[in-house]
Amino acid sequence: MSSEEKKLKIEKLREKISICKRCSLFETRTNVVPGEGDCDADIMFIGEAPGRNEDLKGKPFVGRAGDVFDKLLDSVGLTREQIYLCNILKCRPPGNRNPLSNEIKSCVGSLDVQIKVVDPKVIGTLGNFATTYIFEKFGIPSAKISAVAGKVFDVDPSFGQIKIVPLFHPAVATYNVHKTDQLINDFQIFNKFIGSKKRSVAKNEDTSSQMEWAL
Ligand code: URA
Repeated sequence: MSSEEKKLKIEKLREKISICKRCSLFETRTNVVPGEGDCDADIMFIGEAPGRNEDLKGKPFVGRAGDVFDKLLDSVGLTREQIYLCNILKCRPPGNRNPLSNEIKSCVGSLDVQIKVVDPKVIGTLGNFATTYIFEKFGIPSAKISAVAGKVFDVDPSFGQIKIVPLFHPAVATYNVHKTDQLINDFQIFNKFIGSKKRSVAKNEDTSSQMEWAL
């Protein structure tokens, strides 16, 4: 798919997300936060859910966790324009509570489409919720984030040549200074993937939830 086609598909998806009422989070959101960045990026990052600032601005990672995330990107010479950034949930859970399983189920079809269209070489999962979902989607045995952070997982070739890099959520650095060093260390793995050649297209099947978000 050409870069232009990818942009169009992501734009159409954004329109669908903006009117989504698949779970009750639409009742309390100010804005949806579909995600943003290079629709043809080699590297995609997936966070958990919008917080207060993201809900107000309609953009991912614009609060304190976003400041940490920008520093992490900067530590490997990446900018937001070079990556694609989105979340498991596209709407803020009230009070920043954890996403509920029915909310995740309702929402991940749109994430599946984002992964299919952007077709990244590497997915960095930020925190437990993104890691759990992506590990399950790509057939990686579930694991505690503390056991897998910063490691590279090659997925089964039937899913395409995609690598998964689980990371602690950047928000941990806002309340646990000791985790900051680990986050920065773990993040350096992305140096390996920057500027390498684009891989071939993934062959994974459409999921049923993805079909409902079909463009
Ligand atoms: N935390 C997330 O997981 N995502 C955001 O967009 C902001 C904070």
